[in-house]
Amino acid sequence: MSTEPETASTPVAEANGTAGDTLSITDSRTGASYEIPIRDGAVRSLDLRQIKVDDDDFGLLAYDPAFMNTASCRSAVTYLDGDLGVLEYRGYPIEQLAEHSSYLEVAFLLVHGELPRTDELDAWVYDIKMHTFVHENLKSFIQGFRHDAHPMGMLLGAVGALSTFYPDANQIHDPDNRAIQTIRLIAKMPTLAAFSYRHNMGQPYVYPDNDLEYAGNLLGMLYKMTELKYQPDPRIAKALDVLFILHADHEQNCSTTAVRAIGSSQVDPYSAVAGGIAALYGPSHGGANEEVVRMLMRIGSNENIPDFIDGVKAGRERLMGFGHRVYKNYDPRARIIKKACDDVFEVTGINPLLAIATELEKIALGDDYFVSRRLYPNVDFYSGLIYQALGLPMAMFPVMFAIGRTSGWIAQWLEMVQDPEQKIARPRQIYTGERGRDYVPISQRD
Ligand code: ACO
Repeated sequence: MSTEPETASTPVAEANGTAGDTLSITDSRTGASYEIPIRDGAVRSLDLRQIKVDDDDFGLLAYDPAFMNTASCRSAVTYLDGDLGVLEYRGYPIEQLAEHSSYLEVAFLLVHGELPRTDELDAWVYDIKMHTFVHENLKSFIQGFRHDAHPMGMLLGAVGALSTFYPDANQIHDPDNRAIQTIRLIAKMPTLAAFSYRHNMGQPYVYPDNDLEYAGNLLGMLYKMTELKYQPDPRIAKALDVLFILHADHEQNCSTTAVRAIGSSQVDPYSAVAGGIAALYGPSHGGANEEVVRMLMRIGSNENIPDFIDGVKAGRERLMGFGHRVYKNYDPRARIIKKACDDVFEVTGINPLLAIATELEKIALGDDYFVSRRLYPNVDFYSGLIYQALGLPMAMFPVMFAIGRTSGWIAQWLEMVQDPEQKIARPRQIYTGERGRDYVPISQRD
């Protein structure tokens, strides 16, 4: 079983290191002793560099292939406690935000650090509505994809292409410039996502309707046909808005780490966020909701669940939507999403896969394999069922995730570019290959 650390964020207030605290290290190779300062419950890896066998030695490295126990930044955006199942954006619990806030208000909170006043929120929502349209050439760009291109691939290509429409976005040290690119990214993501969907469906692209709220406008761009005015069902729009809130940020996850690492080269935010979308595409990350539904369809009925669970335990299968690198108790977002499921199914009728999912969850939570490994449903166990009930094809699920996560990516990018401690991301390696070989002409290679 994994021996990974179970808590992600280290809260400064609870830091188990005050000024003067040190880690005493004795190097058994040399007998030399070192005092390494501890701050915020961490030691600086660079402080290990002084630990050398001799003057020619490069110095001790920290080896951490998947960043299992390495803090890559100081951040004030999102707090997680994996043991207690706590998730807070800028200090506000996710449960309260999901119940009382809206996605755009949460986006403001993530980006600016505080909940907006009424006038600030009005201005923010207005600005986002005024930037929902994309350049017509972007439409042609998406039209250039094959009819069956994966919409996540189209989205990542289109967001990368946005950087060519806004070449001044590389002025990342100009606060006004960062502000306008922030608005554009949050505003245009639903438009590009919906265009990708309509492209797959062979249907004409629908332009944004700025009379509608953020989620309602997305629904319109996805589903509007011949009606003059699309009227989203408010219960569906609300549930979608809640899903966006739940997905908005999750501190230093794989895609956010990608955004920060790419952004650390000082590239424009569109290119950095396109990298985040690429990372989110993978089945171990944002692609998991798609995999959950495929898995439930493959299981097919409740009587096949025991066989499936046996396959998981034998290592032939993976229970998608279960387990999390950080949450080892429960994922607080999974609880909220179950409620959103009820709201959506009230409108759309129950997704028949729900019964299999509920039974699968029940069996897994009572099985020692999952209990002992602390595997619980994560946010993606149920989100795919909602998207499916909305009539979205599975390939669109990670795209929906990407729309919500955009505000988090950009908030983290903004924090990173203004952090004086951040430099270009450039890890070290432990080289395991050959050295100093002489080139052999091809005629002499047997
Ligand atoms: N099904 C079966 N076994 C699992 C699962 C799972 N979903 N997840 C973890 N395990 C097992 C591993 O095989 C391992 O067992 P072992 O100790 O006997 O070798 C143990 O639990 C620990 O798992 P790790 O792989 O070390 O956990 P890690 O933190 O690296 O992985 C991850 C986390 C990738 C999320 C994993 O749990 C997984 O693959 N889950 C399914 C995919 C998924 O739902 N991803 C979405 C994550 S949430 C998000 O991105 C929004």
